[in-house]
Formats: sequence, C-alpha cells, structure tokens
Amino acid sequence: MKAANWTNYGPPEMLKLTEREKPTAKDNEVLIKVMAATINRTDCAMLRAKPFFMRLVTGLSKPGKPSTGTDLAGEVVAVGEAVKSFEPGDRVFAFEDLGLSSHAEYTTFPADKAICTIPDNFSFADAAACVEGAHYAYYFLDKVNLQAGQKVLVNGATGAIGSATVQLCKYHGAVVTAVCQGKDFELLRSLGADKLIDYTREDFTKIDQQFDYIFDAVGKSSFGKCKRLLKPGGVYMSSELGRNGENILYSLLTPLFSKKKVKFPIPLDKKKSLFFIRQMMAEGKLKPVIDRQYKLEQLVEAFNYVETGQKTGNVILLPSA
Ligand SMILES: NC(=O)c1ccc[n+]([C@@H]2O[C@H](COP(=O)([O-])OP(=O)(O)OC[C@H]3O[C@@H](n4cnc5c(N)ncnc54)[C@H](OP(=O)(O)O)[C@@H]3O)[C@@H](O)[C@H]2O)c1
Repeated sequence: MKAANWTNYGPPEMLKLTEREKPTAKDNEVLIKVMAATINRTDCAMLRAKPFFMRLVTGLSKPGKPSTGTDLAGEVVAVGEAVKSFEPGDRVFAFEDLGLSSHAEYTTFPADKAICTIPDNFSFADAAACVEGAHYAYYFLDKVNLQAGQKVLVNGATGAIGSATVQLCKYHGAVVTAVCQGKDFELLRSLGADKLIDYTREDFTKIDQQFDYIFDAVGKSSFGKCKRLLKPGGVYMSSELGRNGENILYSLLTPLFSKKKVKFPIPLDKKKSLFFIRQMMAEGKLKPVIDRQYKLEQLVEAFNYVETGQKTGNVILLPSA
C-alpha cells in the first residue's frame, strides 16, 4: 500500500511517499481502507515536534508512528477475532490526536476507541471534515455551562476549530458574534453566526459590547485584551497556551481572584466528543467546511498549505484516490 513515511521531525518536505505492507488487524482492531483524512494543525505540530512537548506524545528522538494523520473516514475491510461492533463494509470515522497513521491507504484502529459509523448522508470527505476541529470545539463548551440566549464571541471563526465552535454554540442556542475576514461572512452566516466582525477592518477587542464567553479558536488574542469585553462571571478560552503559557496560569489564578475567568480546555475523552459529533451530524446540525482536497501524492503541498494558518475549515487528504 502507499503511505506517508514519517521517520524524523522537521518540515513537510521530509515526508516521503512509500510502499509498505498493509497492516493486519489485531484481535481488538479493525482494518480500515482510508478514504479521507484531514491534514490539520495537530498534524503540523506533531510533524515538526513543535512545541517541544509534542515529543512526549509522538516519541522523544523520532516519531513512534509510521505515518502522520490523526483522523480518518473510510471503510472497514477486516475485523479482529474479538470485534463484534463492526463488520467489513461499514463506513466509519475515527479520531486519535496522539496519531493513527491515517495518511496511508490502510490503517488499523482499536474497535473500542473513538470510532463510529458515518451517518448515511455524509461522504467520506464530509465526515473527515467533521472530526478534529469539532473535537476541540466540544471541549471549549464542555468547560462552561452555555445557556440558550447567552452571548458568545468566536475569534478565528473560519478555522477548523472556529467553524465547529460557531456551530456548537448555535446548537446550544447561543447568540454568536464571529470574527473573520469579510470574504467569509457568507460562510459564517450559513453556519449560524448572528453578528460578524471583519478583523481586517476592526479590532474586536475595542468594540463596545459584552459577552458571556469569548472563545479564541485561533489563539490570536489574550485575556488581558479581552477582559473588558466579558460580563461579570464571563469566561475567556483560547485554543493556544498564550504568551509564556499565560492561559494555563490564568486558568489557575482567575477563579481565585477575578470575577472574569480564564479556562483552559483539556480535550482528553475522544470517544465522548466523537459520539456527540456524530449525533449533531445525524441531526443535520454540523456542516462540514472543506477548503481544499489533495491526493496522497500531494501530501507535502497540502502540509505546506495548512502550515500557512490560513485554511478555511478543513484540508482533506484522499489516500485511496
Ligand atoms: N489546544 C489544542 O489542543 C489544540 C489542538 C489543535 C489545534 N490547536 C491550535 O488552535 C489553533 C486553531 O486551529 P485550527 O485548526 O482551527 O486552525 P486553522 O484551521 O489553521 O485556522 C486558522 C483560521 O484562523 C483565521 N485567522 C488567522 N488569523 C486570524 C486573526 N488574526 N483573527 C481572526 N482569524 C484569523 C484564518 O482565517 P484567514 O485566512 O481569513 O485569516 C483561518 O481560517 C491553531 O493555533 C492550533 O495550533 C490547539
């Protein structure tokens, strides 16, 4: 089979396409023909092992996984002897942000982890585009008690995490202000955003409004700049650690000393988020946002594009195309 060969940390150019033997499913695993997977910012961080602590996840001196890839949508082609929940022919999607080597034509995955069947009306590419960003968005909302009618601001609303965060907030009945470029207003309206701010024309931290929650899905702001925009009891959350890891520090200190708090999402339980995501998809409440699609041979080009930090929603790799 064809696969991305991941042997060292560094820039995308180090990833070479290789031929290797198809893996075999262990007793508790399924073998999946990978039809679609995202190339996402977690993949980029793992590829370069930046920040350095990524090595605790991926391997201290070199990558522990044969290929890159943290999510997939595909078809089960074989199951291990102990697997009762899936059978060959099942259309499934799966997520493991510690790496599942899905940038390859085939991979194996434990049947009891974050894997489930794809709702009927979703293509493989659409399903793949609903996983990674929505997983992190789920853990923004899991940290707070978002109520219908509350006001939320989402910065970086066009990213994989941001576009899912807007949709999850709308799912809970929030009033959403989305920050993006003017060219993406129509997209954000279609995802449910109520108000829009073009960050190339207006600094959202200077506006004269207050919110119950500010979710910075792209990590470009800070609690210091956003504090004024929070109502008393309001919460700021970012997908990034912030300068010198300040968001971690603030998440420990603000509950003790401030009426406006910082929380830091800890997205550990992937099975919980994936099953919630599947439910939203089945209810027609989560739309895939796809920017570009690439063949496996274009892996390096695709990684380079994702590293620009300017993709809209998701970049999809089609390993079996
Ligand atoms: N905490 C975690 O566990 C975790 C996990 C995964 C990712 N992350 C981090 O979360 C961040 C977002 O990830 P992602 O995959 O959603 O990113 P992404 O898809 O690469 O999205 C970036 C988006 O942000 C927009 N953007 C860029 N600069 C902006 C600005 N100054 N103001 C508003 N929007 C801006 C871009 O739109 P334009 O092109 O229009 O500017 C683009 O659509 C990344 O920094 C990533 O490293 C954290």
